[in-house]
Amino acid sequence: MSKGTLRAYLDFAPREESFRDVALAGLTRHRKAIPCRFLYDARGSELFEAICNLPEYYVTRAEIALLAERAGEIAARIGPRARLIEFGSGASTKVRLLLAALDRPASYVPIDISGGMLHPAASAVAADFPALAVIAVCADYMEPLRLPALVRLTTDRRVGFFPGSTIGNLTPEEAVVFLRGCRELLGPGGAMIVGADLKKDAGVLHAAYNDAAGVTARFTLNLLARMNRELGADFNLKRFAHEAFYNPDAGRIEIYIRSLMDQLVTIAGRRIGFTAGERVHVEYSYKFSVDEFRRLALRAGFKPVDCWTDAENRFSVHYLVA
Ligand code: TRP
Repeated sequence: MSKGTLRAYLDFAPREESFRDVALAGLTRHRKAIPCRFLYDARGSELFEAICNLPEYYVTRAEIALLAERAGEIAARIGPRARLIEFGSGASTKVRLLLAALDRPASYVPIDISGGMLHPAASAVAADFPALAVIAVCADYMEPLRLPALVRLTTDRRVGFFPGSTIGNLTPEEAVVFLRGCRELLGPGGAMIVGADLKKDAGVLHAAYNDAAGVTARFTLNLLARMNRELGADFNLKRFAHEAFYNPDAGRIEIYIRSLMDQLVTIAGRRIGFTAGERVHVEYSYKFSVDEFRRLALRAGFKPVDCWTDAENRFSVHYLVA
């Protein structure tokens, strides 16, 4: 084996689901909805990058600062010679902070559904950490128990890494099911590191999803532009608006696309009506107190043993033991 190159690249990506089928199904429901995973085409990913650099969107900066500041403590918790398994590794940016702090990590298993992101990102990690065995897995990490057996096949301690507050984009029930699957994959003695956005002042939350420059609005409405590009739809983007607000009872940001008038739109040859004020649901982003997240982890069978928060109490990173 040559050092500094990928140990293995496993392609288990399911056949790509059809944007057309999912969009049509979602827009012909009584309560219209399009799942947030479709936000991230090339243009959407570009806009999300821009969101992460907005003054109002603290989430990414807070988490990176927290990981940078606490990497030593987190690494000490993990201990030597671990296998780090990342669920939804994307560009593998945040994990480098951990890898650099870890005591002789044995292997890194980035899992991502997008092979286009995964291959270069995993290769770059392999090049930068020559002693590390990097095993890239192109798959849908949302079903941890259906991942290839190779992910579990090691005598090293398995530690899951799920940053980015993505857990908050699941409903609490979905989050518990996902974490249960992770716990089984990680096995007894395994651990899970999860990033969760903290409950905070509603004004700060509101601004994070309603930036002054309108980048978030462009990001949300890119879903309609994407349907125009890929499905031959004829959405007039001026007739729709981005809407995001904090729902304090549910403890979540709710994100919608709102129709500004009664209108008919053609999507993939189908005519679909929107009434004035009708909303298309795009995403929830749950916010957790430290205790709320610990209770969620307990429901999934994890023992919450540690939690780090940033100096301004914006973001949390939990250490859970399987
Ligand atoms: N998962 C991110 C979050 O919950 C994504 C996000 C940020 C987002 N801003 C958005 C999704 C606006 C839709 C619309 O913070």
